[in-house]
Amino acid sequence: MLQNKDLLTIAKEFGTPLYVYDTYSIKKQYERLITAFKNVSKLKINYAAKALSNITILKFIKKLGSGLDTVSIQEVKLGLIAGFKAGEIIYTPNGVSFNEIAEVAKMGVQINIDNISILKEFGEKYKSIPVCIRINPHVDAGGNYKISVGHEDSKFGISINQIPILLTIISNTKIKINGIHMHTGSDVLDINDFLNASDILLKHAMYFKDLDFIDFGGGFKVPYKPGDIETNINELGNKLADRFNSFCKSYGKKIDFILEPGKFLVSDAGYFLTSVNVVKQTNSTIFVHLNSGFNHLIRPMYYDSYHHIENISNIGGKKKIYTVVGYICETDTFGKNREIEKISKGDVLVFKNAGAYCFTMASNYNSRPRPSEVLWHNNKSLLIREEEDFDDILNKQLDVELD
Ligand code: LLP
Repeated sequence: MLQNKDLLTIAKEFGTPLYVYDTYSIKKQYERLITAFKNVSKLKINYAAKALSNITILKFIKKLGSGLDTVSIQEVKLGLIAGFKAGEIIYTPNGVSFNEIAEVAKMGVQINIDNISILKEFGEKYKSIPVCIRINPHVDAGGNYKISVGHEDSKFGISINQIPILLTIISNTKIKINGIHMHTGSDVLDINDFLNASDILLKHAMYFKDLDFIDFGGGFKVPYKPGDIETNINELGNKLADRFNSFCKSYGKKIDFILEPGKFLVSDAGYFLTSVNVVKQTNSTIFVHLNSGFNHLIRPMYYDSYHHIENISNIGGKKKIYTVVGYICETDTFGKNREIEKISKGDVLVFKNAGAYCFTMASNYNSRPRPSEVLWHNNKSLLIREEEDFDDILNKQLDVELD
């Protein structure tokens, strides 16, 4: 397992800012999930590529036995390049054009439709292609309102109240519904939220006679703070398996049970390494400015998410209180009043839990390049993405002559 001293060596070798991912942690989490849901007769894991979509990571997760959950045609293409077969990929877009859905369907990827008008159009044009439908179960779940997506006012899924319309479309178009799906949110801590939503999904599943699978989505909460709690996946696994297995009995067929975790598999595997540009004492605060900002790691600013920060250039050093910020032209606080080992200019600070939704949400704001990514695999560090440079910032811009 990756230690702080290894991270410092990697920072020296590749420079900062830098994302590092540990395959050991991904494998461990994958195995925990398989164990927790061992009582489900036909379990399938579809890793949610949006969390971390580097193709080497995708390849590693495929080797573990996973399928892939995707949200865009670009993620589908990355999955195919990483070696997933089209049949191992599910595509769950939200509000994308009909043409993109049709293109992905023609690749042989499992389509998951989340609105009625597209289902009708798809059924009329491609009734021979079976589709999954995303149901909105109307539950409040998830860590904050931006990532809570299964409630009544959410833009995601087809409401359980619209099932009669769905059934009419299915009967008119003769389209086959081979799966139903839900995803209620991210950072879902309370397993009762998950179980309530699952009960609703299973109850409504009975309306669909040709199901090959039910997809319960992702959203398990991982610990972010030291001593933080996480979703009790063992208890959830046991309780959900009981419900699912008895559903299969009444349904008269053993169908696949699908989960699509993102954070659970990769959050803990990731480390974001940065260097200290400036230590600035003001009247009230000691600010630590890093060679990064929300262009590289936006979760603390966008969701007020906590990412644990340590000074790996001063491991075991005496702690002081700092406010860690970036170099961006607006407020970009990574952590306020944090107790961190004494910090000096040039020190390397690490952000924990930087595997999920960190690199994939990075941008070129302030015309800054995005950082490199390194994989820590079998005690070796492998570069899996080069740092962007100024050419990448300029690339695709057209220098147009104006009168
Ligand atoms: N399935 C679907 C359809 C999803 O939309 C998502 C995440 C997942 C699975 C995986 O959820 P997870 O297991 O990773 O919680 N950027 C936010 C999280 C957004 C999640 C979007 N959908 C964050 O950084 O907290």
